Amino acid sequence: MYTFKIDASAPKADLYTELVRAADALTSAEPDAVANMANIAALLWEYLPDVNWTGFYRVVDGELVLGPFQGKAACIRIPFGEGVCGTAAQSGKTQLVADVHAFPGHIACDTNSASELVVPVLRNGMVIAVIDLDSPTLNRFDTEDAKGIKLLAESIADRI
Ligand code: SME
Repeated sequence: MYTFKIDASAPKADLYTELVRAADALTSAEPDAVANMANIAALLWEYLPDVNWTGFYRVVDGELVLGPFQGKAACIRIPFGEGVCGTAAQSGKTQLVADVHAFPGHIACDTNSASELVVPVLRNGMVIAVIDLDSPTLNRFDTEDAKGIKLLAESIADRI
């Protein structure tokens, strides 16, 4: 069993520092990418307040394919350039979406989702996956969340 002393109500910068540390502890000795993504998805699910989906899409043969996650069953394949995830994968840039219904081409996997943060995971300059967070609350994510998840993405890029 793993126990982490993470205060989900801490200031975001502190919370993400703790999450990066916990993700490092969970993945440092484990070479299996699926196991590592599964534990990171669970970590985000447990400690990020007000989220209804946390997980990964991986780049497989030029499209995004669903990876380990927590939340409702989700769409399995997303072409590059489509939806919030496909836009992040194609551009290599974080997508911070305050209102998913205002995002052209947003792909609804859970009708409860109102806002979304998608951060690409890059290895050697190539997008290999994205981390996707959904919330039922409009405008749930801000630049601090984006920065924190980017730090996490950078820290685990060689382990997934
Ligand atoms: N909303 C995403 C699809 C993935 S689900 O949110 C889990 C998108 O528009 O790409």
